Amino acid sequence: MQKSIVLFFLAVFTAVSAVAQSDINIIPRPVKLTTSKGSLDLSKRAAAIELTGADASLSVFLDKFLKSKDVEAGRDPKAKGYPVKLSIARLDDLGDEGYTLSVSKKGIAIQANAEAGLFYGIQTLIQLTPVNGTKIPFVEITDYPRFAYRGLHLDVGRHMFPVEFIKKYIDLMAKHKFNRFHWHLTEDQGWRIEIKNYPQLQTRAAYRNETLIGHAGENPERFDGKRYGGYYTQDEVKDVIAYAAARYVTIVPEIEMPGHALAALSAYPELGCAGGPYDAATKWGVFDPVFCAGKEETFIFLESVLDEVIALFPGKYIHIGGDECPKTSWKACANCQKRIKAESLKDEHELQSYFINRIEKYVNSKGRQIIGWDEILEGGLAPNATVMSWRGEEGGIAAAKQKHTVIMTPGNWCYFDHYQDTSKTEPLAIGGLTPVREVYAYEPLPPQLTADESKYILGAQANLWTEYIGTPEHAEYMAYPRACALAEVVWSPKEGKDYINFLQRMEPHLQRLKKWNVNCAQHLVKEIEYLKNPQTKK
Ligand code: ACM
Ligand code: ZN
Repeated sequence: MQKSIVLFFLAVFTAVSAVAQSDINIIPRPVKLTTSKGSLDLSKRAAAIELTGADASLSVFLDKFLKSKDVEAGRDPKAKGYPVKLSIARLDDLGDEGYTLSVSKKGIAIQANAEAGLFYGIQTLIQLTPVNGTKIPFVEITDYPRFAYRGLHLDVGRHMFPVEFIKKYIDLMAKHKFNRFHWHLTEDQGWRIEIKNYPQLQTRAAYRNETLIGHAGENPERFDGKRYGGYYTQDEVKDVIAYAAARYVTIVPEIEMPGHALAALSAYPELGCAGGPYDAATKWGVFDPVFCAGKEETFIFLESVLDEVIALFPGKYIHIGGDECPKTSWKACANCQKRIKAESLKDEHELQSYFINRIEKYVNSKGRQIIGWDEILEGGLAPNATVMSWRGEEGGIAAAKQKHTVIMTPGNWCYFDHYQDTSKTEPLAIGGLTPVREVYAYEPLPPQLTADESKYILGAQANLWTEYIGTPEHAEYMAYPRACALAEVVWSPKEGKDYINFLQRMEPHLQRLKKWNVNCAQHLVKEIEYLKNPQTKK
């Protein structure tokens, strides 16, 4: 065992003896929580939930929980019911997502300025309920998020996931008070959203001929020989959007441009510089053919696609990608070079900036804002763009200094496609190592920013790229419990951040995740065991 690890666990043990064990295990940790003597048995609820000023869907949602099998199991039909109140009230400083929750002999009361706050109060109540039991302690909770943007991403381009799983992913997000689902819908290996104006996106771009077996670095390359693909119909997309909205999750759809476009080019080869033919990629990486920035047809196509996307998704943000766009084909393309000249651009980086600026103008004209990966800084930022900082924090820092809003997703802490443990038994992953402890340690506000500049950091997000993740079970394994750690990073106050306390709360929370049927990675079990008994072999 390394010296640093020994020191870490010594520190852990010392801290444990100082922290009182508690029955309360809410993830993410609330801002303020006080307990008093006594408890309330959830199974003895009064008949109806009192709802003041809020949509009935919230009482239906809570009612469903209170009538669930586990809560109902202990019901005593003769017992006097306790009241449950959900009310919109004026609560200074709690914002649209904050809430207060009171559990006392007077019953349960959740108050908030807005419905999202009531929803989060309900989530906290659900987590106050023991995994095996119905008695909840008397508590007073005041809670609100640290960051406005609390996101998880899912790449459905490399592998496609059933609608039922997308809903489960969103549901689990909501349980952890995440509020933005970044749905990465188009890739070199597959186009996954129905666009009615371009039927070949469905018949051609949604499928690849086969898929690489093993890691992209292996030599010789092996393929499975099986056609792979699929797409979400617009009806399915609408259904997912409504499901997310009911859980106060806004979807950020991503349509990748100008790179990661091979699947689209396979369907409409005239949109590439060389005119094709192209095939959707069958392996992983970055590919030279990209949308031609010189041809007007490219913009006609993308604007038409964006029209349909904007009509479907009600959120403020449309993600337009912008990452990993090789300039090779633009350098060799007469149309792209003509555009560079006509627009007095310095080089291909400025051509990318022209591309993104033009798309931004279009998206803004429809009343929406763009988000792009941090490469959109190269050649100059589009005036209203939000930057998603993935190649470290530098892009986010530079954008914030230019007074652009930023979402932090730096690879070291926020890439859930990385390995989470060094064990040889881990399933094949892209590389990297991002254990839960590292996610928990992430601080989204870089010290390089002043307090004023820090205001441009809207929040953080974890990304789940799926080159090596082919099933829902595997996606859950990569996302949980790391998403629990990120939930605390983006929701809970920085003050009082304490990994040991987090681990203590994670012990019952792992049981809760099991009850929620999540295929959660179990590496923390060993850490928790060591915490309780430092003699255990690590
Ligand atoms: C990315 O990981 N290419 C944004
Ligand atoms: Zn071109």
